[in-house]
Amino acid sequence: MKHKKVILDCDPGHDDAIAIIIAASKRSHLNILGITTVAGNVSVEKNTVNALKICELLDLDVPVYKGSQRPMVKRSEIAPEIHGETGMDGPALPEPMKTHEDQHAVDFIIETVKSSKGKVTLVPTGPLTNIAMALVKAPEIKNNIEEIVLMGGGTFGNWTPAAEFNIYVDAESAKVVFESGVPVTMFGLDVTHQVIADQRIQERYAKIDNGIADFVSELLVFFGEAYRDHFGFEGGPIHDACTAMYLLKPDLFEFKNVHVDIETKGEFTYGMTAVDLLGVTGSQPNTKFAESVNREEFWNIFEDILISYNKEQ
Ligand code: RIB
Ligand code: CA
Repeated sequence: MKHKKVILDCDPGHDDAIAIIIAASKRSHLNILGITTVAGNVSVEKNTVNALKICELLDLDVPVYKGSQRPMVKRSEIAPEIHGETGMDGPALPEPMKTHEDQHAVDFIIETVKSSKGKVTLVPTGPLTNIAMALVKAPEIKNNIEEIVLMGGGTFGNWTPAAEFNIYVDAESAKVVFESGVPVTMFGLDVTHQVIADQRIQERYAKIDNGIADFVSELLVFFGEAYRDHFGFEGGPIHDACTAMYLLKPDLFEFKNVHVDIETKGEFTYGMTAVDLLGVTGSQPNTKFAESVNREEFWNIFEDILISYNKEQ
């Protein structure tokens, strides 16, 4: 029985794709009400095509809604050096037959949360533009949001020394989200860099014989090469997968309740998540901050999920 209602807001994106695969798996108890897309890794048009391709590959009957074309204030920044020109370079998926819905993603989020019997969990894994716009346009939805489970930020940056990409692209929207009063569960670089899909992991999953596992292997090869070339890593950290894995198995992670502020003015710190680990601000905690993950169990569960896509199972 699928019970926890979720909306996946994403910019696929190699690791967004993996988060969708986890959330949509037979092992998941998630009821995915819709997938919304946002300008991030690449343009919202390309991110939307990628989301449609993923749904078709998974035979996932979930509506896809195109969202914000650009951040709230700044110009768009994209990351083709990490995700390629298409935003999901590596695997060759056919052009999707499925099309996105006519309704804008922000309006879908508002209407769905407002009308839902039971709270909805929002799961943004790209810039927070759609989420912030929904909260600004219809603040009353806050009462029917269970939590916002997001990938973004950290105590260090990967786009500037201070800022992680998702927050940096639209720090003003991130400020709206973190100041909204809605419970935020944050998977920042501190924890996502603990789940790097290195050669050992890639070889382990390459042995799984089904189309979804093959797709993930191709994602991990491209993503891993990009991280090796760009950062000298052993592979790609599958950042966004942490959100979906948390929803399936929260006790995989260790958290600390902290106050987080978003910097929107600093010349060198724009987009920084100021994570008050020592409580020096005296401000009320607004964020459940993921500090660590049980790596071995994370990879084991991910392996089981990929195997669960075997048709005969
Ligand atoms: O910094 C990592 C984040 O930026 C991930 O969500 C990745 O998909 C990109 O959006
Ligand atoms: Ca993403």
